Amino acid sequence: MVLQESVDAIVKEFTVDSAKLEELTNHFIKSIEEGLEHAPGEKSKGLPMIPTFVTSIPNGRERGVFLAADLGGTNFRVCSVELKGNSTFKLEQLKNRIPDDLLEAETSEELFGYLAKKIAQFVDKYHPTGSTDTTGKLKLGFTFSYPVDQTSLSSGTLIRWTKGFKIQDTVGKDVVKLLQDQLDKIKCPVDIVALANDTVGTLLSHAYSSGASPNGNQGDTVIGAIFGTGTNGCYMEPLEAIKKLDPELVKELKSKGVTHMVINTEWGSFDNELKHLPNTVYDQNIDKVSSNPGYHMFEKRVSGMFMGEILRQVLVEIHSKGDIFTQYFEYDELPHRLRTPFELDSEVLSHIEIDDSTNLRETELSLLQSLRLPTTIEERKAIQAIVRAISRRAAYLAAVPLAAILIRTKALDGYHKEVEIGVDGSVVEYYPGFRSMIRHALALSPIGPDGERSVHIQIAKDGSGVGAALCASTVN
Ligand code: GLC
Repeated sequence: MVLQESVDAIVKEFTVDSAKLEELTNHFIKSIEEGLEHAPGEKSKGLPMIPTFVTSIPNGRERGVFLAADLGGTNFRVCSVELKGNSTFKLEQLKNRIPDDLLEAETSEELFGYLAKKIAQFVDKYHPTGSTDTTGKLKLGFTFSYPVDQTSLSSGTLIRWTKGFKIQDTVGKDVVKLLQDQLDKIKCPVDIVALANDTVGTLLSHAYSSGASPNGNQGDTVIGAIFGTGTNGCYMEPLEAIKKLDPELVKELKSKGVTHMVINTEWGSFDNELKHLPNTVYDQNIDKVSSNPGYHMFEKRVSGMFMGEILRQVLVEIHSKGDIFTQYFEYDELPHRLRTPFELDSEVLSHIEIDDSTNLRETELSLLQSLRLPTTIEERKAIQAIVRAISRRAAYLAAVPLAAILIRTKALDGYHKEVEIGVDGSVVEYYPGFRSMIRHALALSPIGPDGERSVHIQIAKDGSGVGAALCASTVN
């Protein structure tokens, strides 16, 4: 086949049309219902739908100084957040790139010991005298962006690692206890009072920053979502809809006037059964080389961790048919970086996506630098078309959970209703056009163009840090 034909076929395979969006949105709504329904202990169906024990969202008037620690995809951030009570905050932070060897450490202590050390260094620098309250301890909210079975606001056991971590020893353990033990061991004056998923942090921080409506009702921030290394989202459900909650707890919460709880959907795991998601041969290959085969199937089609790998898989496949990089006859002759899974960063795709330089010179340099891969102009045009197909599919799929939750919560019902979605993550923040592609897809989805116009997708800058601090601020 000639290269152009190969490319056309691939672009077609990556197209998500409005019928597919409708099918996926309906399946998402069903997966929400199933995920909320099953009783505790029963084998889960549908989405994980994890109760977070966060029962209200901020109104912008919260105050105080809190620490936040955020274990995300590739970085560990420690922050000190001063909530000023007027929807603004001051933030100091130290960001550390997690050393590669810790991703596959033998024991949990190695990782959590490292995290505790980084928190202690931060405290020494920014809070050398500890806390001024009676305990002498600083309150910390811990953002832990992996699936956790949350058992209270400040405890939860790891269900499984995602995003490249492979420390088997941690699975099934309480991640707050693991970190607190290591902090205590080095006598660091910090109390972890809240555990939050990054999506919950994003929801809370967006609600804080945008300020709630003047009458103090829950604001219009309906969803907190992450589109970065991973992807996930959370939103509020009425207590009675969360069938998996202990009825005694529901009764107790209701007696205190609580009506809703934030649910961490873990939508990265949407349609793990692959009944409705597109499933190209490249997706199948990626699943095989991933650290969690069979899980997080939605994330593998949408998030930044996988976009580069999808492109790499596609290029290797076209090469095997003899349609690209023909100077290399055998697979083994390809530049070794092109043969290495996860070597191609989605950042490279973001440069190629918008390259309008003469002869796609930027793309040429980018591929030389990242993969040591020389290309012809025809090859670069082909690669740009494929990159755009991969990112468009990712963004169109990203619209599915948003449309589904807006429908499920009836957030768009009512006279000229406007809603906000707080988002964070490298892809939505830096990938050119990602947000506008999501919007295109929302207009094609069951919420339609009218619905799309009422939705505001806004970046919640420093969302997870500020959100963890807000979680900590709810603990007396
Ligand atoms: C992964 C994690 C999830 C997190 C998301 C975004 O999907 O499982 O907990 O929220 O990445 O960081």
